[in-house]
Amino acid sequence: MIKETNYELIEKLEHTQSLTKEEFVTLLSTFDDDLRKFAAKKAVAVAKKYYGNKVYVRGLIEFTNYCKNDCYYCGIRCGNQNAQRYRLSREEIMECCASGYELGFRTFVLQGGEDLAYTDEIMVDLIQTIKRKYPDCALTLSMGEKAKETYQKYYDAGADRYLLRHEAADDELYGKLHPAVMSGKVRRQCLRNLKEIGFQTGCGGMVGAPYQTEEHLAADLLFAKELQPEMVGIGPFIPHHDTCFKDETAGTLELTLFLLSLYRLMLPKVLLPATTALGTINPTGREQGILSGANVTMPNLSPGQVRKKYLLYDNKICTGDEAAECRNCLNNRMKSIGYEIVTDRGDYGGGIK
Ligand code: 5AD
Ligand code: FES
Repeated sequence: MIKETNYELIEKLEHTQSLTKEEFVTLLSTFDDDLRKFAAKKAVAVAKKYYGNKVYVRGLIEFTNYCKNDCYYCGIRCGNQNAQRYRLSREEIMECCASGYELGFRTFVLQGGEDLAYTDEIMVDLIQTIKRKYPDCALTLSMGEKAKETYQKYYDAGADRYLLRHEAADDELYGKLHPAVMSGKVRRQCLRNLKEIGFQTGCGGMVGAPYQTEEHLAADLLFAKELQPEMVGIGPFIPHHDTCFKDETAGTLELTLFLLSLYRLMLPKVLLPATTALGTINPTGREQGILSGANVTMPNLSPGQVRKKYLLYDNKICTGDEAAECRNCLNNRMKSIGYEIVTDRGDYGGGIK
């Protein structure tokens, strides 16, 4: 009986793109493999409606692992004395873009810790330089919380998208994952500011983080429903040996896949990556992510010598030397499941109404 109700809830989500918090909690606390596969099938059909069998690639450039924050889960938190810190120069970043462009990337993602060395002036110059050299490319930033004026400067300089995971919509959980100087409210306000400015905006968080319950995950879903982001980044929590959470257990593949399907059904056109963390907890995690409704992959474009230093969690994949390696690897992986990597900018909505 319970099972049947759950299938009906998935269909309700498919048809109305919304559920109550209680309904999400019911799904998340009672789902099994059959229900998960049922949701995945529906989610893939929705993704195909807007994006066909296309998977978008984003070239990820991890440009600094300095961070002023001390998030309890993160390997590059400022309190981690063992992290080997690096910053890429403007020239090194431009080289990453050049090799990425050669490999067919038309979106670059500049991701880094909250590093005050990259002042507004430096960032504006960098953004303008990249956009002038590659006017056919989209530029995504993922560098944390900034003043609205700073986000506006980035936007005016030509940045198109901004990723800022909200991490936890529930303030109590947010407080257990971050030091007291950080606030979920500030984080969510940053996301609203980004939307207001006009960025294609991405929120998200970890699946299976310490202390996280089904209620928390349901609150995350409802927050995303309200924000209406163009992108949602979710991946399993994976412990890092130099953090407070080193002995915690990782999030599961199944729960992450189920959530990917729920996000796809709730936000049909959303750009939804099958993340590196998903590929880290399972050798075919990213493929399974696509087969659960994801439609984006973000191979690593960072220079070989720094890749092993951008470690947010243990056993991270794609820390080899070559940008081309990840590109080819993902090409083959997507081909093996009947999908095709496409090299256009891959904007929200896929150009199909
Ligand atoms: N496991 C999984 N994801 C993590 N992140 C940070 N640390 C970890 C970890 N230990 C995620 C956070 C952050 C994004 C860049 O990486 O959600 O927003
Ligand atoms: Fe990076 Fe496979 S995608 S090695």
